[in-house]
Amino acid sequence: MKNILQIDTSPQGAGSISRQLTARVVAQLKAMSPQATVAHRDLIATPVSHLSTELIQVLRPTPGAVPPENAAVRAEAAQAEELLSEFLAADVVVMGAPMFNFSIPSQLKAWIDRVVQAGRTFSYSSAGPVGLAAGKKVIVVSSRGGVYAGTAYESALDHQEAYLKAVLNFIGITDVSFVRAEGVAMSPEKRREALASAERDIAGLTLAYPKAA
Ligand SMILES: Cc1cc2nc3c(=O)[nH]c(=O)nc-3n(C[C@H](O)[C@H](O)[C@H](O)COP(=O)(O)O)c2cc1C
Repeated sequence: MKNILQIDTSPQGAGSISRQLTARVVAQLKAMSPQATVAHRDLIATPVSHLSTELIQVLRPTPGAVPPENAAVRAEAAQAEELLSEFLAADVVVMGAPMFNFSIPSQLKAWIDRVVQAGRTFSYSSAGPVGLAAGKKVIVVSSRGGVYAGTAYESALDHQEAYLKAVLNFIGITDVSFVRAEGVAMSPEKRREALASAERDIAGLTLAYPKAA
């Protein structure tokens, strides 16, 4: 393991559980692989805007159309390229992903809208879509107020973990694991249990990693 990319997406600052846990995961990975580099992408400190009409024309040009060319769209395109290059350079991505309204924070969705790019992370063939970002490991740090895993709510309401797994699979990443703290809003005791469970997930990650890069 050489390059770790830590992505934080919670706007809950110091009270954020996912931020606390992404830091724990990265510390654990660094302990196992001291040579590993860590890039930190904080999507709250440095937000990514919603896709604009102009950026779409640059990222997904209509055949025959001339893409817009001005300072604003150049800056947007440069940011998209920076996010994509950073992602492509990572061997392991530690992705903080709170559940917000049964899905992910819009900040994380905006990042996905930059990284899932035809010709860069996926392509279409006559046999269907082909993921181009294979070979990475993604550790999703999932924090959520209620409990979904293994319950009747999971298939109806979990558009967070299920979505992330689907979109990562789409771009070729099949090594997706979850560090999960759920039920954190239910009671202080449930919150303690959730954090202890997430710590067990983190301890389990060690088994999957070699001692050195
Ligand atoms: C805007 C918002 C929406 C939320 N929506 C849900 C939800 O749909 N389901 C749920 O179980 N918890 C929900 N929660 C609770 C969060 O998932 C929980 O606070 C979690 O710890 C957030 O991660 P963080 O602590 O890293 O910010 C929501 C919290 C906020 C602030």
